[in-house]
Amino acid sequence: MIHTRLGATNLLGLMSLGPNGTIGHANADILNRRGSNVLGSNLLSEFYARSEPVARRQMLRVGRKFSVARGYPIPKGFFDDYPRFYTTSQTTAIPNRLNQRHKACIEWNAEAIRGKRILDLASHDGRWSFAAIKAGAVNVVGIEARNYLVQSATANLRDYGVPDNSFSFISGDAFEQLDRVEPHSVDTVFCLGFFYHITNHMLLLSKIARLKPKYLILDTAIHFDPNNVILLYTEDPEGEANAASIEPDAPERALCGAPSKGALQLMLSNFGWSFAYYDWHRAGIRRWDSIEDYHEGWRVTLRVTCAV
Ligand SMILES: C[S@@+](CC[C@H](N)C(=O)[O-])C[C@H]1O[C@@H](n2cnc3c(N)ncnc32)[C@H](O)[C@@H]1O
Repeated sequence: MIHTRLGATNLLGLMSLGPNGTIGHANADILNRRGSNVLGSNLLSEFYARSEPVARRQMLRVGRKFSVARGYPIPKGFFDDYPRFYTTSQTTAIPNRLNQRHKACIEWNAEAIRGKRILDLASHDGRWSFAAIKAGAVNVVGIEARNYLVQSATANLRDYGVPDNSFSFISGDAFEQLDRVEPHSVDTVFCLGFFYHITNHMLLLSKIARLKPKYLILDTAIHFDPNNVILLYTEDPEGEANAASIEPDAPERALCGAPSKGALQLMLSNFGWSFAYYDWHRAGIRRWDSIEDYHEGWRVTLRVTCAV
């Protein structure tokens, strides 16, 4: 059974990196005080401070294993050839993060993208829509709540020579716009960096299921609770990375929910879907700068197979 637990306050920081890759938190020293020389502990700390004891123990175990091989250069990657994407977003447009996410979300899913029709939910400045086209997608439709990001996405793809007839970006709420998409018109749905900015996860998944896609690529923060729970928190809709307030009379802070791994898996299984996790620890990563959340396990990347 899935139940929700009301988080005491804002957990925004645990989900978001600043443009410079750092997150400052009052609790940043928690792990260090406990003697673990944990780089990126500030990423972990907010989660830690608000977690149940069992989850805390798990986080400490993960934290102790954390090591960064200093001295290795930050590797080059896909987005270094398309640097517009470092400037058209304020949302973790950090080269190492974008490039390593490209390996996880795009390269690892080559088969689910090449020759496929892609629906990119929360398409932002078009970073993943563009990457999908470059990976051989036949066309991409992006849905993005913030209109200026839709404009940036269009400009980015045009600037990099993507033909107009292979992409379109729709400005609007993902939940509303999904209803306008025809079943069987999409092969692969991207839900990258969006699943923890919502509270109605099952509704979103059922709207995706209605389209009968073959694959869903999911990249999401998760909550370190051993139970099947969704941790509610609020965030500021002014933040570009955050849940957008669609309604004019929306509350000042947007309510969001981060599912635990168990809850996430239970929800996916409920649709009869199977899934595989990208193994961030076997991806040959030596520099975890700006991708600490993946290292620590509270952000995951999955390929969900919806139809065989
Ligand atoms: C953390 S960013 C993720 C961007 C990109 N998909 C990625 O993974 O890098 C979240 C995105 O969701 C968009 N967004 C928030 N609420 C939305 C909604 N209700 N419908 C569509 N997009 C939304 C935001 O504007 C933002 O671009």
